[in-house]
Amino acid sequence: MDLKEKLEMLESMRREAQLGGGQRKVDAQHEKGKLIARERLELLLDKNSFEEFDMFVTHRSTDFGLDKKRILGDGVVTGCGTIDGRKVFVFSQDFTVFGGSMSLANSQKICKIMDMAMKVGAPVIGLNDSGGARIQEGVVSLGGYADIFLRNTLASGVVPQISVILGPCAGGAVYSPAITDFTLMVKKTSYMFVTGPNVVKTVTHEQVTSEELGGADTHATTSGVAHFACANEADAIGCLRKLVSYIPQNNLEDPPYVETADPVDRMDESLNTIVPDNPNKSYDIKDVICKVVDDNDFFEVHADFAQNIVVGFARLGGYSIGIIANQPAVLAGCLDIKSSMKAARFIRFCDAFNIPILTFEDVPGFLPGTDQEHGGIIKHGAKLLYAYCEATVPKVTVITRKAYGGAYDVMNSKHIRGDMNYAWPTAEIAVMGPKGAVEIIMKKEISEAEDKEQAVDKKTEEYRDKFANPFIAAGRGYLDDIIEPKTTRPRLIRAFEMLASKKDTNPAKKHGNIPL
Ligand code: HXC
Repeated sequence: MDLKEKLEMLESMRREAQLGGGQRKVDAQHEKGKLIARERLELLLDKNSFEEFDMFVTHRSTDFGLDKKRILGDGVVTGCGTIDGRKVFVFSQDFTVFGGSMSLANSQKICKIMDMAMKVGAPVIGLNDSGGARIQEGVVSLGGYADIFLRNTLASGVVPQISVILGPCAGGAVYSPAITDFTLMVKKTSYMFVTGPNVVKTVTHEQVTSEELGGADTHATTSGVAHFACANEADAIGCLRKLVSYIPQNNLEDPPYVETADPVDRMDESLNTIVPDNPNKSYDIKDVICKVVDDNDFFEVHADFAQNIVVGFARLGGYSIGIIANQPAVLAGCLDIKSSMKAARFIRFCDAFNIPILTFEDVPGFLPGTDQEHGGIIKHGAKLLYAYCEATVPKVTVITRKAYGGAYDVMNSKHIRGDMNYAWPTAEIAVMGPKGAVEIIMKKEISEAEDKEQAVDKKTEEYRDKFANPFIAAGRGYLDDIIEPKTTRPRLIRAFEMLASKKDTNPAKKHGNIPL
């Protein structure tokens, strides 16, 4: 064969590999409302940026007739490309080949790009659409999964890892996405579960559909396994591209700076009246966030899960920040098990990847009740405390209204290394809410009063005036300043600018022991 013939052969092999499982399977995939692996990569990556690896890899199995069925690429497309000019490593499982199932060859391809991403210092993105372990290969394919799980774990906190679920993801296969930093799912066409509806029916006699058991809505609202539930694949990939724009390439770099026309000294008069006079009335903390950040653009993460706390990314003066905010409009902003876990994981991501943390605080305390206590609010709330305590990135807090009890300490107080702690004049900082407080400390006076209700109201008001304000904390230096709400944006930009060169460390150790 001369070079010309060899080149022709190469081209023909490339065409063959690009066909995946063949047109019939491609059509079947499209009929399900799903794209194929390469179409997804085209949507995800900048035009002509994809450098494919291992297009000619095939499996080496011979059992169950597999020796007669070898498809170039073996059901996963892997390589490197760019998103807005920034390098990412990707794998995209091809359901048209053996249902995207994981063979040893398949896992070796994925491990190769993960190893490369670690050496180069770039994010790993997995587009998952797979029937799970390749059944014909047996333990060899299980080993392949474990090789990936190990790499997911070792890469955690070194390079960002993001999983997009675009089809089935079942059995132990779910544990790779679970270790990664963010999971995106597509409504109606993707699902994740450890055991599917048939096994559930056999074991627990529950009748449940795949969608109810592990669809995008279930995981985005009930379990919290998914951070985003997207309407369709294009939406999911758009969401992923935006997510990547806020985060750095690796743990040694800073997130990209994005020029903004939004003035750094912009004030917002409406912030002065956003907190209602009545402390029992709610407001939407997302309105506060949007009025403060660049171009009013807040990219919320985990929007449908534990809505009593809000987390997400935004920019201030062009620099990425991670925001954690109590949401008074849901459960009065109380901290509970789910919200503690949600915020703790987000804080740890930001801290691992040099993203400064901004906290908006309006929290009446931890949610009372047997459900919470028996569910372990003590250890789960401790996760949030631990995450804030160990974080060494710049940390700024704004108390908009309530900062009561343990929650005051937890939500990035000065005492746990909050760098700049501000309060609006509407802040109420106390051991507990005024009514609860007077019912305890003025029990005798109240019981002796003629009109008990009136006595409680009067004492509550007195207590609120005396203790539930920011001036006592400011007098101790627990707050660095009390700021007029409308000035919040310029004040925060100045604070983060001042903290940009902050260096802080934790004691040397193998690793801490976060209360899991
Ligand atoms: C080999 C598989 C496969 C698998 C699907 N296929 N899953 N081949 N190993 N795990 C093949 C099918 O044989 C079929 O091949 C093609 O992929 C498409 O599958 P269909 O069943 O026709 O597609 P669909 O009707 O859409 O159903 C998709 C599915 C179903 C729900 C995923 O295929 C399925 O239930 N698969 C098995 C899932 C499973 O139990 N996996 C093992 C889980 S345990 P042909 O040639 O006919 O087109 C596991 C452990 C991981 O994964 C542990 C990690 C630690």
